This record gives sequence, structure tokens and C-alpha cells, in this order.
Amino acid sequence: MKKNISKYNIHTDKWGNLVALEGNDLIPFHIRRVYYIYGVQKGVRRGFHSHKKLEQVLICVHGSVKILVKTPDEEEIVTLNKPNEGLYIGPNIWREMYDFSEDAVLLVLASAHYKESDYIRKYDDYLKYYEKKVRGSK
Ligand code: TYD
Repeated sequence: MKKNISKYNIHTDKWGNLVALEGNDLIPFHIRRVYYIYGVQKGVRRGFHSHKKLEQVLICVHGSVKILVKTPDEEEIVTLNKPNEGLYIGPNIWREMYDFSEDAVLLVLASAHYKESDYIRKYDDYLKYYEKKVRGSK
């Protein structure tokens, strides 16, 4: 599964903390889109999709959130609760986000503009796509 967690350097001085991220460097792709999710109600679970091509880095810049990442072969739950920790999620990985703290702000850096045709939103379709395009090409 093409996913990993990176720790970023925090520049701390008497004026506070600063984390700087550059595309094609600490972020392993050219950043073409940034979005953030916040104000998620208790008990809400979102995501429920994979992407055919898109790469993303998720950073919980405030509060905490759990991310389930899975393929037909493996699955893992990652807790994001540090503003200097990023979870890279490559293509063809199913993800669900849940247990958002009330104050959670989930920042997402993405490798491409929003394109609905890059999404697979039904788990059955994901399994079929994975068998054909991912396992089939190995
Ligand atoms: P979606 O990706 O389904 O959210 P999540 O996976 O976190 O539940 O996006 C929710 C809605 O927002 C959907 O209608 C598409 C829209 N959207 C954009 O317009 N641009 C974007 O960059 C993203 C991520 C979503």
C-alpha cells in the first residue's frame, strides 16, 4: 500500500511555531490543490472513496482525526493529531475519515485539481477496479 507518515520540521522561536512544506520536496508531488475539512459533527464518517491517479498528503493541523486506509489485502488505522505530521496516500487506496475532534482541521494537499472522474465512490467498484487495473497490471 503506497502510504506513509512523515514528520516535518517545526521552526520554533519566541514568536511561535512554523511548519513549511514545499511541493516536489517534503511533499512528494507538485501541489495543485489545497483544501481543508473542519466543523465535522460528532459521529460523522466521511471519505468512502479511492482515487485512480490522485496523490494526497493529509495533515491534521488542529485537533485529531482517525484515517482508515485499506486495499483488498491490508488495512490500517492512522491517528493524525500533530500539526507537523503528514499522511501520504497514493492512488488506489480506499479511505475513510472518522472520530474528528470538534476542533479538528484536516488540511489536504493534492496532486491535481478536483476531478470527479478520478474518484471511485462505491466499494464494489473499487474492488473490481483494483483487481483489473492494479493487480492485473502486476
Ligand atoms: P468529497 O471528496 O466527497 O469529501 P469527503 O471524501 O471528505 O467526504 O467532497 C465533498 C464535496 O465537495 C463533493 O461534492 C465535491 C466537493 N469538492 C470540491 O468541489 N472540490 C474539492 O477539491 C473537493 C475535495 C471536494
